[in-house]
This record gives sequence, structure tokens and C-alpha cells, in this order.
Amino acid sequence: MAEKLLEIKDLHAGVEGKEILKGLNLTVGKGEVHVILGPNGSGKSTLMNIIMGHPKYEVTAGTLSFEGEDLKDLKTFERARKGLFLSFQTPEEIPGITVENMIRTAKQAISGEKIKIIPFRRKLKAMMEELKMKPEYAERYMNVGFSGGEKKRNEILQLLMLEPKLALLDETDSGLDVDAVQIVSEGVAKFHNDENSCLIITHNTRILEKLKVDRVHVLMNGQIVEEGGPELIDTINSRGFTHILDAQAGK
Ligand SMILES: Nc1ncnc2c1ncn2[C@@H]1O[C@H](COP(=O)(O)OP(=O)(O)O)[C@@H](O)[C@H]1O
Ligand SMILES: [Mg+2]
Repeated sequence: MAEKLLEIKDLHAGVEGKEILKGLNLTVGKGEVHVILGPNGSGKSTLMNIIMGHPKYEVTAGTLSFEGEDLKDLKTFERARKGLFLSFQTPEEIPGITVENMIRTAKQAISGEKIKIIPFRRKLKAMMEELKMKPEYAERYMNVGFSGGEKKRNEILQLLMLEPKLALLDETDSGLDVDAVQIVSEGVAKFHNDENSCLIITHNTRILEKLKVDRVHVLMNGQIVEEGGPELIDTINSRGFTHILDAQAGK
């Protein structure tokens, strides 16, 4: 296996006193693409939020480490600085801050360096062209009045500009038409290389067409109940999630 990037061991976590993750184990190696499948409400978004250090969620047991370092005491912005990035299921609107400013500010905060405006703009423009985003979007307020598809493209734009070590994509393809799924899929494929990893939650496996998936994990009831190679996606697509539990119960 590749060098470990993210390692989660026996994670128990929840929100407002309710346990959602119940002993979850997951390891993502450097340069790998992992997919998490699971029914609604199984804890997928919770897992992503916990990896990113969302203050609302509480880890009650187990460990999370990134490049061998314990993430426990790190705040969200510190995790972003280490190279973690979360693309949301429902991206937020940020009135008053333009797309360009937001991404440049984030890039400066993460790298700790002043980002020169001219080369930054040049790259932003090129990436926006690839994502088929009109140039005027750079000047619009973050996600305000964006359609579902535009919000998702904007998430991929951030990914391409911020170049994290681990991209956590939480249903970045949900609610998109086929053309937009294609653009998101190409964007993720463009981002991915041997030096970075992706952990992708999706119900629409078309987003994976342009990627070589290394490992698939099935999350049910707060635990990884099944793991396998990319062929597991086809099994789930054709037989659903419940057959896994049935098979494990020997039915
Ligand atoms: N902030 C929250 N407050 C209360 N319950 C929550 C909260 N976030 C998630 N949950 C509950 O945790 C479970 C898992 O949710 P979630 O992680 O969003 O699942 P998934 O992304 O797999 O659909 C659900 O039962 C959901 O209602
Ligand atoms: Mg979710």
C-alpha cells in the first residue's frame, strides 16, 4: 500500500450527545482515490465534517491522523493549512465576498504567503474556462444567486486553485445535470495526481468515470461494513446496500 495520508482508527463521534460514528476505521494512502458509498443518514457527511474538524461534532473515542500527525487538537483552519479541503454537499452563500477574493484569501491563509494578483488571476481565468464558468463569476459574491450546478463548479474551482493534499468531496455531484456531472468529473480528474488523494462520497458513480478508483468503502450505521476494489461499485449499483447486511448475516 502507498504511504499513509489519512488514518482513522476506531472512531466514535457524534453531535449533541447522539453517537453517529460507531467505531469507524479508514485509511487513505498518498495518491489514492477512495469512494465512500452508503445509504442516506449513515453518517457520511458527519465523517467528512469530523475529518475537517467542524466544531459542532464531538469525537468521543478513537484517533484521526494526517501524515502521521494527530488531528485531534487542530482547528479547521489548521487542518486546511495541513492540506485538507472539504467540498460541501450544500455550499454556503457568502454575500459581500467575491469568488476571486475568497479564493485568493483562502490561498494566502493556507500557504502563509502573499499571493501575487496577476499570476493568480491568470490561473483563475484558465481554470474557470476549463470549468466552463463565465469570467464574470469571479466578480460575483460567493455562491449568491448561483444555481446548483454553478455552486458545484465553484467548489471544483476552489479545489483546483487551492491544491490540497486530500480532497474530501461530499456529493459534489448531487443534483447536477449530465453535462455538469461531466464537468465536475473532469475537474476532479484534472486535480488528481500522484501527490494528492481524494475521498469521494457519491450516489452518482458517473463522477468516477474519469478517475481510477483504488478502494471503495461502504458506510452503514456509522461503521465501514464492507470494503473492496472498484468492482464493489457495480455490485452496490445492481444489488443495493441491504444485500451487504443480509450477506453478513448469512441470509
Ligand atoms: N447537526 C446534527 N444534529 C442532529 N443530528 C444530526 C446532525 N448531523 C447529522 N445528524 C444525524 O446523523 C445521522 C447521519 O447524518 P449524515 O452524516 O448527514 O448522513 P449521510 O451524509 O450519510 O446522509 C442522521 O441520522 C442525521 O440526522
Ligand atoms: Mg450527506
